[in-house]
Amino acid sequence: MNRFLFLLLPFLYLLAPTLSAQGTLRTLHSPGKLSSISIGLNKSGEPFYKINYRGKTAVDWSRLGFDTKEYKLHSGFSLRSASTSTHDDTWTPVWGEVAQIRDHYNELEYRLSDATGCTFIIRCRAYDEGVGFRYELPRQDCTPTVTITDERTEFQMTGDHTAWWIPGDYDSNEHVYSTTAISAIDNVWYNREHAISTQHIVKMKNVQTPITMKTADGTHIALAEAALADFGALHLETDVKNLKFKAFLIPSADSTVKSVNTMPFHSPWRAVLLSKDAAGILRSKLILNLNEPCKIKDVSWIKPQKYVGVWWEMHVGLATWDYEATADMMAATGREVKNGRHGANTANVKRYIDFASKYGFDGVLVEGWNLGWKDWFGKWKDEVFDFAKPYPDFDMDELSRYAKEKGVKIIAHHETSSAVPSYERQMDAAYAYMNKYGQNAVKTGYVGKIIPKGEWHDGQWMNNHYLRVAERTAQNRIMVDMHEPVRPSGWHRSWPNWMACEAARGQEFNAWSTGNPPEHECILPFTRILGGPMDYTPGIFEVRMSAYDPNKKEVVHTTVAKQLALYVTLYSPLQMAADLPENYEKRLDVFQFIRDVPVDWDDTRILDAAVGDYISTARRQKGTHNWFVGSITDENPRNTTLKLDFLPAGKTYEATIYADGAGAHWESNPYPVSISKRKVRKGDTLSLQLAAGGGAAVSLIAQ
Ligand code: NOJ
Ligand code: CA
Repeated sequence: MNRFLFLLLPFLYLLAPTLSAQGTLRTLHSPGKLSSISIGLNKSGEPFYKINYRGKTAVDWSRLGFDTKEYKLHSGFSLRSASTSTHDDTWTPVWGEVAQIRDHYNELEYRLSDATGCTFIIRCRAYDEGVGFRYELPRQDCTPTVTITDERTEFQMTGDHTAWWIPGDYDSNEHVYSTTAISAIDNVWYNREHAISTQHIVKMKNVQTPITMKTADGTHIALAEAALADFGALHLETDVKNLKFKAFLIPSADSTVKSVNTMPFHSPWRAVLLSKDAAGILRSKLILNLNEPCKIKDVSWIKPQKYVGVWWEMHVGLATWDYEATADMMAATGREVKNGRHGANTANVKRYIDFASKYGFDGVLVEGWNLGWKDWFGKWKDEVFDFAKPYPDFDMDELSRYAKEKGVKIIAHHETSSAVPSYERQMDAAYAYMNKYGQNAVKTGYVGKIIPKGEWHDGQWMNNHYLRVAERTAQNRIMVDMHEPVRPSGWHRSWPNWMACEAARGQEFNAWSTGNPPEHECILPFTRILGGPMDYTPGIFEVRMSAYDPNKKEVVHTTVAKQLALYVTLYSPLQMAADLPENYEKRLDVFQFIRDVPVDWDDTRILDAAVGDYISTARRQKGTHNWFVGSITDENPRNTTLKLDFLPAGKTYEATIYADGAGAHWESNPYPVSISKRKVRKGDTLSLQLAAGGGAAVSLIAQ
């Protein structure tokens, strides 16, 4: 045997199960043969898998399995059976980017057992747009509890791909993205900056999922999870030398334990999204398809909507959430005194209700309406808020009556300050209170460190909590928008009342921090938003905070035209018009786009996209022939020519184009928007000049 092969052999035995455990290798192809997953056992009975896409290896031989206290779920297995099946159906989402979704895959049930006869199943699904697999422990005659201490799943990449990532933080997703080679992933900068108050980054090479990568030949690969439930969220530990990721589950309060589960049990899906280009990643429905069908029988009360709210004025410093003066002032006077700047007062809320009613918005979010705000930030204290008691200057009876008269609904706000047991104790009463006042949507929030102390935002305990909230709000016919939860993993298919999440760095950061770089919104749809809609809160017209206080340097890092385009490029069934009513009333011609743009769609086309650089999206309004286009760029100006071949033949459209005006630039000249109209038809083209940090929004109304 030649010396080279001799040296290589032990590795080949380890990495290529075909060479050892003969007969265990199975390959599952996707229906159109674009992707495949191979799975097999090596001679120690360890399961390995490999993923191919369009004739190339996308994920090379990689380990599977778990470490648990009770079982060795990673080796010593033998293959009991490997059965395949095919699934092809089409389902109708309650709301979404498209009217119908095809769920077409081939499935392999790879059934293993260990020496004690304990069964362990690896279920694989091959789609043309990627692969999903999960682990299952059916009910059986062995100890029913599994204490998972580690997940062994690996993703062996085939090169030093470009990756878009944020750090594997146990407590926050609100980081700016990094774009680096896999080999350069490193969280040291994030820990040095410590830009997020609750951040908890332990391992310097850990990243969150979804992480998206681009290979040298342009293939795009996103690693994600789907249907995260009763488990720690999936982070990835990067082996920067070997260009490999290993699953890292967020621990529970007992840091040696990742999750405790009872058989029958299955893990969340591990999903590998594959596309020959960036646009295909945005089109992918893999994560949604890996989730279970809708669990709510009557969905008639679930309504995509646009809303305004008593919100931005607190973020820009014009008003406060709390009614009380600061603790120091109260100590000085010896009694509860008001600070005089409370935003959620009856007169101010009426102003927003009037505005919403006049301009056709469905909801008015009111933050700071309830008792508790003086203690909410940084205290790590239970029993902070009361979710059924308004402040004395917020007249719930009168405001509910007024909102009803004006045909809008108040959106409740439940900031929990992460005092979760206290929220769970109050949940039923809080939702009954909402129902009593005719409110059918709530924004929840998890600012601060978690109580029970020791738990993390991304851990098993909290992941179960978020699902309990989705379920309990559904029982009360309430739509929910969660801020600071774990990243969504497609649960909105099963619980469509769970309309949106923040779970990333939203617009608010532009009001009081270094903000979101101009590329930020060109990355979000390829990473965080793959798992579900984001309540980003677009639509800021007064993009310079110096307008509120000459000493403020903070700015929104986009032009105003780009703020409009975000309503199309950042999909959500719940979209806020986040700026102050007075800022909109100064520019009603520009505001018209926000009034017109819908939040529910029958069709979506990604016209052009490059991760971190630009996105052009066209969407057709639900139940109509009208189309809306959004085009955004990063810090680089760009000319883009869009072919209107998605329009139906034979129809004329009036296009209203809201583009960056002459000399626009996100930093030096963010305000100008040029509005023009023209008639267009299928086959015409639209040439758009996007400014640095700019964008364009177009409505195409069928004539
Ligand atoms: C953080 C949320 O993201 C933000 O929208 C909200 O205004 C504050 N928490 C207060 O709850
Ligand atoms: Ca937030």
